[in-house]
Amino acid sequence: MASRHDTEAALDLLAAAAAPAEEAQALPFAAYRDEGLFALELDRVFRSDWAAVCAEAALAEPGDYLAIDIAGEPLALVRGADGQLRALSNVCRHRGTLMLEPGVDCLDGGTITCPYHAWSYSDSGTFRGAPYTHGVTIDREEHRLPAFRVEVWMGVVFVCLSPDAPPLAERLAGIAPRLAEFDMGSFAAPGPLTAPEVWEANWKLVVENGMESYHLFKVHEKTLEKVTPTRGAYYIAGSAPWTLTGGEIVQDDGGVVGKLLGSLFGGGTGGDHYVLVSIPPSFVGVVTQDSWDWIIAHPVSPTSTRVSQGTLMRSAPDQVTQAISDGYATAFLEEDRAICERAQAGMAARLSRGGRLVPLERVVVDFHHYLAWRLAGQDPPARYVEREA
Ligand code: FES
Ligand SMILES: [Fe+2]
Repeated sequence: MASRHDTEAALDLLAAAAAPAEEAQALPFAAYRDEGLFALELDRVFRSDWAAVCAEAALAEPGDYLAIDIAGEPLALVRGADGQLRALSNVCRHRGTLMLEPGVDCLDGGTITCPYHAWSYSDSGTFRGAPYTHGVTIDREEHRLPAFRVEVWMGVVFVCLSPDAPPLAERLAGIAPRLAEFDMGSFAAPGPLTAPEVWEANWKLVVENGMESYHLFKVHEKTLEKVTPTRGAYYIAGSAPWTLTGGEIVQDDGGVVGKLLGSLFGGGTGGDHYVLVSIPPSFVGVVTQDSWDWIIAHPVSPTSTRVSQGTLMRSAPDQVTQAISDGYATAFLEEDRAICERAQAGMAARLSRGGRLVPLERVVVDFHHYLAWRLAGQDPPARYVEREA
C-alpha cells in the first residue's frame, strides 16, 4: 500500500499501473526522471528483490570474481576454492574502503586484500589478518565480510540483498516446463564477460524496450526484423513476477542479411521460434535452439542505466561465428541504446503525456503490475495463460 514516503511520481505510477490491461497506458513521463521515485525504486525494488548479474559459467575457476554494485551496494561475486559462488560485500570491515576494482579478474592467492591498510579476507569472506595491530586482537568471526543471497537460474546468477524475498526458484517455478523444448541445461559455454555500458535512459525504459517485440520492425528494420519480425511476435504467459513472449524466426527473407543472420540466430539447428523471458527488475533473455542470450539492467541514476549482455551456447563457437555474432549483437544493442536515449529525451516533457499500450505491449503491462507489486505491496494479478496476438 502507498505510504507517506511515496512521492507524487510514485502515486501517479501506481495509478497508471492499476488500469485494467485492456485500458493500459504508458507510465507518466515523470516516472522516468523523478529523484524521489528513483530512491524508492532502489529501496523497494533493487535492494529488496532478486537482481541478475552474469552467467555462472563465466566465473568458473577458483578466485574468479566480478565486482559490481547493486543499488549502490558494492559487492563481489567470488568463486571460492571450495567451488562455491558467493556474493560478498566488497567493503573493508576496517574503515570501509572499496577493495576490489569493479570488473572481472581473479583473486591473487585466493585473498582479498584492502588497498588501504592491507587487512585481508579469504575467498569465502572470512577475516584473515591485519598488519601492525600491536597486540590488539581482531575477532575473526566479527570481522568477516557480509554475504548476500545467491541463486543460479538457467545458468544465470541472481543476487538478493534482502533476507525477506521468497526464493527465486519458487517465484520462477512456472517457467521451466514452458522452456523444456530448449533443453536449457545444455547451454553451458559462456560468451566473454564484456564490460557493461551506461545508457542515458531510466532503467524502466531499458527494461520495457528489452521486453517488447513491437518495435522490431522499426528500430531494428535491418537487423532483428530480418530474422524475428514483429508480425511473428506473440504473448505466451505471464504476470508481474515473470512473462514469456515469443515469436517466429524466419529464414526465407530472401536477402543475404536475412540468410546470414538466420543461419546464426536460430537457423543452425533448425529452430523456428524464440522465447523471450522477462524477469523484472533486471533481466530480459531470449532463447532459441542455438543460444540463450540476455541483457541485464541496473539503475545508476534516474536517467542512466548500466546495461550488460551475456550469452550461453551449447558449445563454444568457432572464432568467426563468435565474431559475427558479437558484431550482430553490438549492432542491434546500439539501435536499442539510441532509441532508449531518444525516448528519455522525450520524457523531459512536462506538457504532454503517454498514450495507450497496444496488445503487443502486454508484457509491459505485466511489468507495470510488477512495479505496483514491489512499490506498493499490491499482490500480483492472477497469471494470464496462453497466447494472445
Ligand atoms: S580500510 Fe581496509 S584496511 Fe583499513
Ligand atoms: Fe530492441
